[in-house]
Amino acid sequence: MAKRVVLAYSGGLDTSVAVRWMIDELGVEVVALAVDVGQAADDWTVVRERALAAGAAEATVIDARAEFAEDFVAPALKANALYEGRYPLVSALSRPVIVKHLVEAARYHGADAVAHGCTGKGNDQVRFEVSTRALAPDLEVVAPVRGWGMTREESIYYAYDHGIPIQATKEKVYSIDDNLWGRAIECGEMEDPWAVPPPGVWSLTRPTVTEPCDLVIGFEQGVPVEIDGERLGMLDVIERLNTVVGSYGWGRIDMVENRRVGIKSRETYECPASLALILAHKDLESICLERDLEREKARIEPRYAELVYDGLWFSPLKQALDAFVDSSQEFVTGEVRLRLEPGSCAVTGRRSPHSLYDYRLATYDAEDRFRHEDSAGFVRLWGLGIETWADRQGSKRVRD
Ligand code: ARG
Repeated sequence: MAKRVVLAYSGGLDTSVAVRWMIDELGVEVVALAVDVGQAADDWTVVRERALAAGAAEATVIDARAEFAEDFVAPALKANALYEGRYPLVSALSRPVIVKHLVEAARYHGADAVAHGCTGKGNDQVRFEVSTRALAPDLEVVAPVRGWGMTREESIYYAYDHGIPIQATKEKVYSIDDNLWGRAIECGEMEDPWAVPPPGVWSLTRPTVTEPCDLVIGFEQGVPVEIDGERLGMLDVIERLNTVVGSYGWGRIDMVENRRVGIKSRETYECPASLALILAHKDLESICLERDLEREKARIEPRYAELVYDGLWFSPLKQALDAFVDSSQEFVTGEVRLRLEPGSCAVTGRRSPHSLYDYRLATYDAEDRFRHEDSAGFVRLWGLGIETWADRQGSKRVRD
């Protein structure tokens, strides 16, 4: 059995109780590690103190926001990654970066195990454990919440009995997970897929602005680097777009998705920055990517999203797909204009120094350079096989 465990600590009820529970029930020493990926958590000092109050031997907070944005979110954006066509993988992308730091901390503290606070019904346990096995197959993974069988109410009593300063109340109904790339809200009355999400669940996408505005997003090789001509890092781009796009009340998703563990789950998300960036990036690709490359990329994008969703961020296929995606982004440099209006965000223009859009080919005006005479022979050959089929077989079937 493990002697020292590094726990992925969020500051919430479950991971706080997990600190004490692992010490008492498993006889281990617990190091609490909180990874800041842009969640709207309490004050990190309070989070750290709570872990220590619960009995952690050490408690550390790591600011991984820029790393998360550049090394995890940016590759997913280049791949336009949307699980089941809609969900930009908010939680799925954060688990691998958390695990990377867990493993580093385990090495640093000489721990022989890592731990997480996930239940047995979700995807996050899969992502924590599979990522850990990919990076550090020798480390044990402890999942106290999955095994302890306490109800939420019992966990709250446990915390009170052990003097753990948590703010949870019995009434808490939603399960919320958030970071830079968005916010996931589950449970409560939304467990009925027909129920309208109560207005109180939204926080990033509350409409507060009515005056329309335009935003120009500049990309270099598939990565956003500018807003309205101002040079920004990936982290700043995302933060700014969450605020601006969110203030138009745009970026909500309401869907029933297929979890890895076989459950269909009603999920609501707020993803103003991520959806706006994917919309803009995909649009820029429409002028920068040659047709076959664009189509082949579109074919692998759902697969990419599935791998990330299923906890396979650190996997050979995902690595190989990244190489393909990176290669496809060489000329994805340019600008996209987004128009924001209450409840809407739409592309109204795109341009690139590498654009494959050729005015002289597209226009019906005098500048037209398209060789119209080439079309007759081309179309004739294009339809030749169909013509032969129609002559020999097609007309017979119609007659019969
Ligand atoms: N369904 C989403 C996913 O699997 C969100 C999970 C949110 N996690 C949570 N602990 N509430 O990625």
